Amino acid sequence: MSDGVQSKMIRSVVRGFGAALPKRVITNRDMEAIVDTSDEWIVQRTGIRQRYVAGDDETTASLGEAAARAALANGGLTPADIDLIICATSTPDNTFPATSVNIQNRLGMSHGFAFDVQAVCTGFVYAVTTADAYIRGGLAKRVLVIGAETFSRILDWNDRTTCVLFGDGAGAIIIEATEGEGTVADRGVLTAHLRSDGSHKEKLYVDGGPSTTGTVGKLRMEGREVFKYAVGMITDVIQAAFDSTGTTADDLDWLVPHQANRRIIDGSAKKLNIDAAKVVITVDLHGNTSAASIPLALATAAGDGRIKKGDLVMLEAMGGGFTWGAVLLRW
Ligand code: ACO
Repeated sequence: MSDGVQSKMIRSVVRGFGAALPKRVITNRDMEAIVDTSDEWIVQRTGIRQRYVAGDDETTASLGEAAARAALANGGLTPADIDLIICATSTPDNTFPATSVNIQNRLGMSHGFAFDVQAVCTGFVYAVTTADAYIRGGLAKRVLVIGAETFSRILDWNDRTTCVLFGDGAGAIIIEATEGEGTVADRGVLTAHLRSDGSHKEKLYVDGGPSTTGTVGKLRMEGREVFKYAVGMITDVIQAAFDSTGTTADDLDWLVPHQANRRIIDGSAKKLNIDAAKVVITVDLHGNTSAASIPLALATAAGDGRIKKGDLVMLEAMGGGFTWGAVLLRW
């Protein structure tokens, strides 16, 4: 500003993170006994080596609750400190109530409010963006943002073109209102760019629903078609996040992409000249866990000390809808 006084602003700063995975691991070798596939094919086309699959006693809400409790412990907080829960999921425990409200109850909370966000694999990017808007709008001070999925429950386990790709899990972060200086040196969410285009519905969708078939349905995907659009859409929103903040690939400490496919991740990073050493990869361990993949990757890389306080971190995702988006934040 002309008088030299910087305009203070409210930022949504990460206070804690956590993750949870089902007990059961299914390796690519295990998949060979389920469908006509091979470890070599799966690794070469996707980078996936194993995935976790929920057992009878595990659900989206139970995994989300476990991730939430881990994030609370990591942040030194209790459920009493949270005033909003947003859960990104496409595999809710029930059509309603929202999984977030279920998780709220499991956490013993009856204060505050909770709702779900449905943007498939881009769900966590949408949820962080929504939480940031609520914080900056003064509607919430401390938000538990969860991505939780049990995609194993909507897979056609006879379809080798899809069932080898997905897994179950949950991750969570807590973001809280903190005064910043209004510059890119601030910690917290710096910018968000969300997109959707429903004309691509047939390329990736679930063939059931309460209002159409009255059934849950199974995931259907034209993988090659999705692949064709993925890199362009992802790099477009990442570039928008760089442009709107005056930052570049060189400024970035970590790219934490949605973990769908190693080739899409590598292609996107290469196109934007993002050093491969700055890219967090967990698709080999988790498969594609849709809305859970980014918070799982964040918890992995922050948990092992790679992502540190003050690091510039880009989140990006693309998925069913199509939906896609990017969030740039300083950890
Ligand atoms: N094991 C062995 N062979 C297989 C398998 C399998 N699991 N699945 C397909 N094949 C065969 C096909 O039948 C085909 O055989 P053919 O040539 O005899 O017809 C051959 O492998 C090649 O199939 P393609 O579909 O062309 O393989 P492609 O190289 O495109 O890889 C893949 C498929 C991995 C799905 C790729 O297209 C992809 O990654 N697409 C993007 C999908 C994605 O990332 N979706 C998620 C993003 S959105 C979200 O996260 C919800």
